[in-house]
Amino acid sequence: MASLNNRIAIVTGAAQGLGAADARVLAERGARVVLTDIDEERGRALAEELDGDFFRQDVSDEATWDALMAHVLDRHGQLDVLVNNAGIAVIHDIESATTEEWRRTQSIHLDGTFWGCQRAVRAMKARGGSIINMSSIVGLQGSADYIAYSAAKGGIRSLTKSVAAHCRRQGYAIRCNSVHPGAINTQMVQAALRHSSNIDLAGAEDQEAMRLQLGLGEPLDIANMVAFLASDDAKHVNGAEMVVDNGATAILAG
Ligand SMILES: NC(=O)c1ccc[n+]([C@@H]2O[C@H](COP(=O)([O-])OP(=O)(O)OC[C@H]3O[C@@H](n4cnc5c(N)ncnc54)[C@H](O)[C@@H]3O)[C@@H](O)[C@H]2O)c1
Repeated sequence: MASLNNRIAIVTGAAQGLGAADARVLAERGARVVLTDIDEERGRALAEELDGDFFRQDVSDEATWDALMAHVLDRHGQLDVLVNNAGIAVIHDIESATTEEWRRTQSIHLDGTFWGCQRAVRAMKARGGSIINMSSIVGLQGSADYIAYSAAKGGIRSLTKSVAAHCRRQGYAIRCNSVHPGAINTQMVQAALRHSSNIDLAGAEDQEAMRLQLGLGEPLDIANMVAFLASDDAKHVNGAEMVVDNGATAILAG
């Protein structure tokens, strides 16, 4: 795979889960990674391990995007890759969801990704770059239990294509793609399965059952896709929706 040497990458929500795996793989391939998160302790510890930087950021706070870009451009002089990964999952159906939860979900996922794309395009337009937006398979299909989350992830899917369209029309060498993971073994999914089905993914048996039933994957499965999209190997991949779900959306249950 093409090296990411001399690339400067931001990964949001990088203290744990998919963001941590993305940061690790990008660093292993040669990028200098700026990790952002609201979880300062874990984020800082991982940044140190990866010889990267940590920047405390709540992606739903617009001002933090300007501060982050100023920090990155001041310290590194360029931005090549942005992974808009930070997220939360609140379980509610259309009847039980509250306006507050709806707005909080949209503000972290959709507002955060919008501000990230906007600031990254401004920072990257002279040199080019790659923007990778974390959506989900529930951004492609409906979900009774994740009403706000599913709507936000669907919005990220079309926001991504519109950013790609703008950059191509303007002649910027910026690619923008969305990644659509199925169920991946992180704290987010562990909490969801405990809540919905009393399943404990700490147990090998439950993990195996979920692998068969849901196509459960590991964070590295997503990080490898992110590293590909970040690299020049993906130079012709733009505005695409990369589904990484072990067939979950392609195969009928059973
Ligand atoms: N795990 C899955 O199966 C799965 C599937 C599809 C999509 N995703 C998406 O992948 C992304 C990562 O999910 P994960 O499973 O690693 O979740 P996770 O809960 O393990 O980690 C999420 C990280 O985001 C951080 N975060 C939360 N709110 C933030 C905010 N406002 N600002 C900055 N950081 C914030 C958390 O502190 C945490 O470090 C999310 O966007 C999620 O929706 C996950």
